[in-house]
Amino acid sequence: MVMLKRPDVALANPMASRPYRVQRVRRETGDVSTLWLEPVEDAVKQFVPGQFNMLYAFGVGEVPISISGQSAPAGGLVHTVRGVGPVSIALCRSKRGDVLGVRGPFGQGWPIHAATGRDIVIVAGGIGLAPLRPAIEQLLAQRDLYGRVVLLYGGRTPHDLLYQRELGGWRSRFDVEVEITVDTAGVGWRGYVGLVTTLIPRSLFDPSEAIAFVCGPEVMMRFTVAELQDRGVSPESIYISMERNMKCGVGFCGHCQFGPTFICKDGPVFRYDQAAPLLRIREV
Ligand SMILES: Cc1cc2nc3c(=O)[nH]c(=O)nc-3n(C[C@H](O)[C@H](O)[C@H](O)COP(=O)(O)OP(=O)(O)OC[C@H]3O[C@@H](n4cnc5c(N)ncnc54)[C@H](O)[C@@H]3O)c2cc1C
Ligand code: FES
Repeated sequence: MVMLKRPDVALANPMASRPYRVQRVRRETGDVSTLWLEPVEDAVKQFVPGQFNMLYAFGVGEVPISISGQSAPAGGLVHTVRGVGPVSIALCRSKRGDVLGVRGPFGQGWPIHAATGRDIVIVAGGIGLAPLRPAIEQLLAQRDLYGRVVLLYGGRTPHDLLYQRELGGWRSRFDVEVEITVDTAGVGWRGYVGLVTTLIPRSLFDPSEAIAFVCGPEVMMRFTVAELQDRGVSPESIYISMERNMKCGVGFCGHCQFGPTFICKDGPVFRYDQAAPLLRIREV
């Protein structure tokens, strides 16, 4: 007897990519592009801000990329990619109409539910703003549920800042504090100069009430966490997003495993007190 595979069972296979068409590409910086993708057939499941997809550039390879937003039509996804190697550069070079493979969404996202009633401090470095963007949009869509909302964003230069249009929109609101700093300023920059950590002591939030979401290069996250703790935020109230080499994205291959912890399945977002031992281990 021939066993026919039910289509929904086939679709449930986490290793099966779904085709998505590139709807639009926006160049953010010299090496970072944002891709708007629409499903060709079925869409992947609804995502939680902070989760990632495995994006497949046909004939080149597959890499984990955080979901940086959703778009119309239903099931549309946004991803922001920095071209650093073969696959990410191929993704950045995609053009409208190209088809990519998408698997996901995978991993644990930002604990937005735990933020209800609290002050929220979001600290992003460089492309670390990408996985935080859908969280910011969700928080601002339900702004009444939270106390103060503070976004602190740092880039290397003014040209390295992502989402200029969205930053302008967030800055124009009276119910969110947005502070931006760059390591090196150019002509015409009138904002702060210095590391993103220097913004923490001067921003307005109650450390005993605050929950912090932090994403950026690992060294930036270490110094940010130290500064938040100096300000009085407890390690149990700080969440970071970790990046490690991944293959399957679903806890099968062991590529991202540290002892009993799989970064792909148990993370990438971790509570800081649980992530601290992992940060001390170098990538294999
Ligand atoms: C959960 C998760 C979410 C991610 N989200 C995003 C995202 O939203 N946008 C995005 O652009 N990238 C993101 N990344 C990183 C992205 O997956 C890597 O940049 C990508 O895998 C590189 O693959 P490649 O084949 O293009 O280059 P590779 O050949 O693998 O690497 C090329 C060079 O870049 C270096 N490199 C690889 N990864 C990184 C990195 N993360 N940071 C700095 N240098 C690196 C390598 O050491 C090597 O020198 C994420 C990674 C994880 C684990
Ligand atoms: S990437 Fe395969 S186990 Fe995490």
